[in-house]
Amino acid sequence: MDVVRIRGGRPLAGEITVSGAKNASLPMLAATLLTGEPCVLRNVPALSDTRYMLEILRRQGAKTRDLGGGAWEITAGDIRAETPYELVRKMRASICLLGPLVGRLRAADIAQPGGCVIGDRPFDLHLAGLRRLGCVVTQKGGRLSVDGARLRGDYIFLGGRHGSTVTGTANIVMAAVLAKGETRLDCAACEPEIAALCRMLVAMGADISGIGGPMLTIRGVEKLHGCDFAVPPDRIEAGTYLLAGVITGGDVTVRGAIREHLGAVLSKFEECGVTVDDAGEGALRVRGEPARCSPVDIVTMPHPGFPTDLQAQFSALMAVTPGISLVTERIYPNRFMHVQELRRMGADIAIEGATAIIKDVRHLSGAPVMASDLRASAALILAGLAARGETWVQRIYHLDRGYVEFDKKLAALGADIERLDDSAMPGDCNREE
Ligand code: EPU
Repeated sequence: MDVVRIRGGRPLAGEITVSGAKNASLPMLAATLLTGEPCVLRNVPALSDTRYMLEILRRQGAKTRDLGGGAWEITAGDIRAETPYELVRKMRASICLLGPLVGRLRAADIAQPGGCVIGDRPFDLHLAGLRRLGCVVTQKGGRLSVDGARLRGDYIFLGGRHGSTVTGTANIVMAAVLAKGETRLDCAACEPEIAALCRMLVAMGADISGIGGPMLTIRGVEKLHGCDFAVPPDRIEAGTYLLAGVITGGDVTVRGAIREHLGAVLSKFEECGVTVDDAGEGALRVRGEPARCSPVDIVTMPHPGFPTDLQAQFSALMAVTPGISLVTERIYPNRFMHVQELRRMGADIAIEGATAIIKDVRHLSGAPVMASDLRASAALILAGLAARGETWVQRIYHLDRGYVEFDKKLAALGADIERLDDSAMPGDCNREE
């Protein structure tokens, strides 16, 4: 198994380009099932999650053609409604197949996703939304079966205890575009990834208004056609590189960092005293250093609030920022697995309910640490970049789900980071043994 070794203490400098957004490309790939015509999707990031999704599409009967440079042509001629467990269990986002299968085939039968390390990941809102669209949903033997013979538009309020749902919104929109009549989707997720999906559907002939806002109006059409569409840049990856610049006291320009996608994060940078300047279209330049930052109070929320997917990485910066910072998780109240590992590096973090109380330490020290999920892995690497000494991050397959060549991109900015076989780890560092 691969591990990442980081020798901390080098300020990062230079320019980096972010890849296509994982969380946009997954529902966008699923959306290609809504038509039998070829769809070309560009800027698809080369990640294990997108590879799984392409594999699932092939298993549904679609033909996929790699056009190179992140472009894929997908033609979903004859497709089937059943999705196997062995693929679904590898990736929760396979739930995104429900909407397109119901829209196109009026039926779906997919294995029910299981548990997840970042906390409770229910899909009750997806099912409630489909029921409002006239579907009959049954859960039996670990499978979700949807009979959409009577699919038709309606008013749907899709909010839950934690606000809107991202993939739930994607599913309902993808079912509604081919439903009879009008759907008004209230409390829709406003994430840029959902707006991108809606724009792709419009390019395929769908009729959607209110894109980007919490009330979407979808007028069902008979049929969709092929399209040629590009996945937007990954705002979470962009935010992670901006943080890498600050935590190392560097000067980093991130291409594909769109200000409007990162509003809440940039406002926290401003509160911290970090300088973020426009550096041409879709590019931001960050300069700062932890010792000059001020502590902040962060609460994660659905977009345009502070994204939960950057909470762990921002916490790494707060661990070396003078003062006491508070980080409250309102989306996944238990998403603090990175904390135990950051403590191994000397961080002073206490958890009280859904809040992390982060007191600064003068410096972090390199240590062997274990990645528990995608964003936790990124947080540990950021901490390693700032730490004194060597940090070894194990289980980095989590990282490869969501960051394209993270180690190489950081190395290009001057980080001392290397991906190695775990046999290279000093014996007392390897915790897998
Ligand atoms: N929720 C419900 N019922 C539902 C669905 C969600 O109560 O039926 C709750 C969840 O428990 C959570 C909140 O609603 O508290 C938001 O969950 P959401 O459905 O929005 O999450 P998701 O669609 O499953 C996507 C991203 C996650 C990201 C969240 C929140 C994809 C493929 N995944 O998940 O990304 O954290 O939105 O922004 O888009 C990641 O990339 O690391 C990641 C976990």
